[in-house]
Amino acid sequence: MKQLNFDYSAALDFINEEEIDARRKEGAAALAALINGTAPGNEYLGWLRLPATITPGEVDRVTSVAESLAQRVEVVVVIGIGGSYLGAKALIDALSGSFDDLARPPRVLFAGHHLGEEYHASLERYLEHRSFGICVISKSGTTTEPAIAFRLLRALLERKVGKTEAARRVVAITDEHRGALRVLAGREGYNTFAIPDNIGGRYSVLTPVGLLPAALAGLDIRAIIDGAAAMQRRSLDDGNAMAIDYAATRNALYRKGYTTEITVNYSPRLHYLVEWWKQLYGESEGKEHRGIFPAGADFSTDLHSLGQYIQEGRRDLFETVISVENTGHPVVVPADEANLDNLNFLAGKRLDEVNKMAEQGTRAAHVSGGVPNLRLLLPALTGYHLGELIYFHELACGVSAGILGVNAFDQPGVEAYKKNMFALLGKPS
Ligand code: PA5
Repeated sequence: MKQLNFDYSAALDFINEEEIDARRKEGAAALAALINGTAPGNEYLGWLRLPATITPGEVDRVTSVAESLAQRVEVVVVIGIGGSYLGAKALIDALSGSFDDLARPPRVLFAGHHLGEEYHASLERYLEHRSFGICVISKSGTTTEPAIAFRLLRALLERKVGKTEAARRVVAITDEHRGALRVLAGREGYNTFAIPDNIGGRYSVLTPVGLLPAALAGLDIRAIIDGAAAMQRRSLDDGNAMAIDYAATRNALYRKGYTTEITVNYSPRLHYLVEWWKQLYGESEGKEHRGIFPAGADFSTDLHSLGQYIQEGRRDLFETVISVENTGHPVVVPADEANLDNLNFLAGKRLDEVNKMAEQGTRAAHVSGGVPNLRLLLPALTGYHLGELIYFHELACGVSAGILGVNAFDQPGVEAYKKNMFALLGKPS
């Protein structure tokens, strides 16, 4: 079977192999520290060997809880923020057809990932006349945004169907022992899943945090786990150095002044995968006034907005393209007798061929404009290859943070806004 691959040849006009090699050595040491459990933040390394140890029993439980909730309702609202949201959203969007949710219940919606009032008002109006359930995800069980969303939607659900039926329609994913959500779930008798102590939020996509919403959306979660497990074995047991290569290359570019990495997709289905990537690297690396700024772009859409900046703006950017080889949904450009748009030269070609030529042409233009280009080559948008990509990025992020010399697994900076917000809202101390 084809596998995920990494290509940095279009960065070699900007950095040389010796510069990458110097960072590779640091990357190898960082990987060894992850494997030996001596990396900073080593109490959060549970993700490292997770995929290959997920049992069929665990998969069955996730699938059967998802199926029984799906049978009761038309809509499931997944509540969570940050690492308790982005992985699930990324998986569902990447692996479902763009309009699939309109065709097959339950429709999976998200809440608790912001404080937008209109969104909640509108969501409540939408849910008022539909049968719905809730999957609430919070490791701490106390994060403000999801806690408020859960208060609101739980109240609506209990008002609509009564406390007993509401309890059957709520699944809580949280810490095994601690936190307000664990206490509430115990008191109300919700179905629950535990987030292991040794796995932090942004590393939790391959736990029920990502897998239960994915199963609710009808995805084959076994395939995702299999792909991640294959990448785990390749990286940890078979000595494949792709994660080190990527981490080393991006750090070599960073040392040369390329301080922003734009991860680019050419499919709307990958928008949230890029959002997940931004959170993984941003929260893991942006510390001690260091770190590559992780940005995202959707091409060709953003070629009509950010494209100008990327081509001719400040030269401190590099791009990492997620390049999908086989998109597998043929749509052919039709011929048109009048040919007023002069596009008959494209007639008979697949839309994907046009997209791929946009990708190739953009790559050449950006490289010649001074933007180093890296590529992650995904054979197809399948659960297996998404699983490979997710584990690859988790590992590469840990390695890259090691090269940078920061603890990948904490996020002390996130507290600053909360402190101010609570003070402004008059939270009792
Ligand atoms: O990666 C992280 O740890 C964070 O982004 C958390 O996932 C996020 O803050 C949500 O936290 P919690 O799951 O405790 O509600």
